[in-house]
Amino acid sequence: MRVTLKIFCLLASAAVTTYSCSKNDNPAPDPCSGYNKTINFTKTESVGTSNDGTITILEPRGDTITYKLNNGAYQTSWYFTNIPPGNHVITIKNDKGCTDTAQITILNYGPKYALVKQIIGGPYVIGGYCGPCHLGVGNSGGKNFDTDASIVANWDRIKARAVDNIPSQMPEPPNAMLTPADKQKITDWVNAGHRQSD
Ligand code: HEC
Repeated sequence: MRVTLKIFCLLASAAVTTYSCSKNDNPAPDPCSGYNKTINFTKTESVGTSNDGTITILEPRGDTITYKLNNGAYQTSWYFTNIPPGNHVITIKNDKGCTDTAQITILNYGPKYALVKQIIGGPYVIGGYCGPCHLGVGNSGGKNFDTDASIVANWDRIKARAVDNIPSQMPEPPNAMLTPADKQKITDWVNAGHRQSD
């Protein structure tokens, strides 16, 4: 049988170069073949030195799926807390032992900046007052605040419009202006140096 196979392989490889003869006669079907999940998640960044980032896996979920963070143990919960800033790997595993991974970066925000980010909104932020006009596809007045870099670069315009109402209030009327407490958060961040680390 082996000899016959060898000869067949020689002939086959001569005839069709793409023919693969390196496998067994009866290769076991790979149970994980095609297991390629889209891992959807949301996250919160780590604030100050508290190493308190979080990751929430939105998809896939299910009774037979477990999750792990980096080299930790698999857990049934799709929620991870107390994550330090940096690059992390989430692995998901199904009941057949098939795995898939996603790389997720947890950023480090200064405490004052974290409050400003909440006010503005953005990817992974629930709420906020500057969408939809300045988030996602929103680019009103040529300003989009999806990235931290764009918020940091526009600190003076954000203060002028959303705190001092110069030349007119943001959020654009008829939306309410920010509360005094929220305005103060922006002012405090600006006075601290208006960086992502403040
Ligand atoms: C309902 C839509 C809407 C919302 C919400 C909104 N804006 Fe605007 N924004 C606009 C429009 C329209 C313009 C362009 C016209 C103008 O400048 O008044 C603009 C322009 C701007 C500009 C650029 C012009 C300049 O003066 O530099 C900044 C900065 C700005 N908005 C900040 C903010 C901030 C900060 C928030 C949230 C606290 C916000 N906006 C919420 C509609 C909106």
